[in-house]
Amino acid sequence: MSKAAYWAKKLSKYNDADWAGQPSLFVQEAVKFYPTNARVLEIGTGTGNDGLWLAQEGYKVTMTDFIDDLFPTINEEAASEGVRVELKKLDVRELSELSSESFDVVHANLSLHYFDMATTKQIFAEIKRILTPGGVLSALCNSTDDSECGEGEEIEQNYYKINEIEKRFLDVDTAKELSHEFNPLAIDNRGETYKDRAIGVRNLIRIIVKKGN
Ligand SMILES: C[S@@+](CC[C@H](N)C(=O)[O-])C[C@H]1O[C@@H](n2cnc3c(N)ncnc32)[C@H](O)[C@@H]1O
Repeated sequence: MSKAAYWAKKLSKYNDADWAGQPSLFVQEAVKFYPTNARVLEIGTGTGNDGLWLAQEGYKVTMTDFIDDLFPTINEEAASEGVRVELKKLDVRELSELSSESFDVVHANLSLHYFDMATTKQIFAEIKRILTPGGVLSALCNSTDDSECGEGEEIEQNYYKINEIEKRFLDVDTAKELSHEFNPLAIDNRGETYKDRAIGVRNLIRIIVKKGN
């Protein structure tokens, strides 16, 4: 199965989850650090909950994902909420097509941890390039404390192929290293999702950092 097919199948299940339609717990924390009236680029929007919520909060949002199967549904939801969003099919490994300093915020909820370290570093560098001075990156990532970390075939340190998909797991030191060219606002391992909260797990890596002026 291709990665796009894997995600299309997975995302159709997310749409049926009881937390569908709600903004992530992470974005509700991260937004406190966003500049007012920010132009937000969302990476790996999936079912679109975070981008739609940010648009309702008054942000100008560009929602992206490398699969566009759910874009029509997201557009319908935006129309029924009376908000405008831009939807763009974009692979996060191809951020080079976006202009420098074109967004005030880049938000990625569980979408930056699928790549080898060289690619991940490149993505962080590209995010810095497209952010305006003082712009904010918010990213929630898998943790080395996750029960899945260590399963499957190891590709490189803390990077595994698990059931058809490559997954990276971060610790706080690696999160700091990846974002060392930004000013830290909050980097910790206290992130949670609705799914994890239900089983008492609260260990995801939260990265909220600011580009210098
Ligand atoms: C775990 S889901 C998270 C979706 C959404 N952000 C949320 O919190 O519900 C991961 C998302 O990353 C997207 N994704 C995976 N690889 C990607 C890539 N190379 N470029 C852009 N998006 C990608 C998937 O399609 C999926 O929507």
